[in-house]
Amino acid sequence: MGVPVDTATFRAAMARFPGAVTIVTTAGAGARRGITATAVCSVSADPPSLLVCLNRATGTCAMVADTGMFNVSLLAGDGGATALRFAGAGGVTGDDKFALGDWRTDARGLPLLADAVANFCCEVAEQVQAGSHTVFIGHIVGITLTDAAPLVYERARFHRLAPI
Ligand SMILES: Cc1cc2nc3c(=O)[nH]c(=O)nc-3n(C[C@H](O)[C@H](O)[C@H](O)COP(=O)(O)O)c2cc1C
Repeated sequence: MGVPVDTATFRAAMARFPGAVTIVTTAGAGARRGITATAVCSVSADPPSLLVCLNRATGTCAMVADTGMFNVSLLAGDGGATALRFAGAGGVTGDDKFALGDWRTDARGLPLLADAVANFCCEVAEQVQAGSHTVFIGHIVGITLTDAAPLVYERARFHRLAPI
C-alpha cells in the first residue's frame, strides 16, 4: 500500500495516463450540448458498448440523462482548439461551442463531427452515480470512421501520436 491519497495526488497520477481526446455530445428540444472528455472506455463487443464518465455539474450530463442518447467523437491530431473550446475555454458555453468544427447531424438529430477519427452513436443502457460523475454505459448503434491519427492528452498537454 502507498500513502493515503489526497485529491492533488490523485490528479497528478491520473494526469500521467495518456487519454484519447473526445467530444461527448447530445441534443434535445432544439439545443445541443457537448464537453471534452477523456474518461471514455470500451466495455463490451457483444453488444457493442462503451462508457463515458460525465461531471454532473455539466449541462451535457443532464441532457444525456434526459435524452438517453449521446455521441462520442474521437478528435484527430489537429483537434486541439476544438478540445479547448468544448472544455469551456474562453467562456464559450452551450450550443455556441459547435461554431468550431464541421458538425453534421445523425439520424436521431445528434451532432456528428465530420473529420473525427471515429464517431460512436450511443443509446444509454445503464447509468451509475460515482462521486461527482455519472457513468453512462452506451450501446453503440452506429459508427463512422476515418484514417486520421487521434489527439492524445497527457500531463495537461495535447500530443499527436508518433510510431516507434
Ligand atoms: C482534456 C480534457 C479532458 C476532460 N475529460 C473530462 C471527462 O472525461 N469528463 C468530464 O465530465 N469532464 C471532462 N473534462 C472537463 C470538461 O470538458 C469541462 O468541465 C466542460 O467542458 C465544461 O463545460 P461547460 O462549461 O459547458 O459546463 C475534460 C477537460 C479536458 C481539457
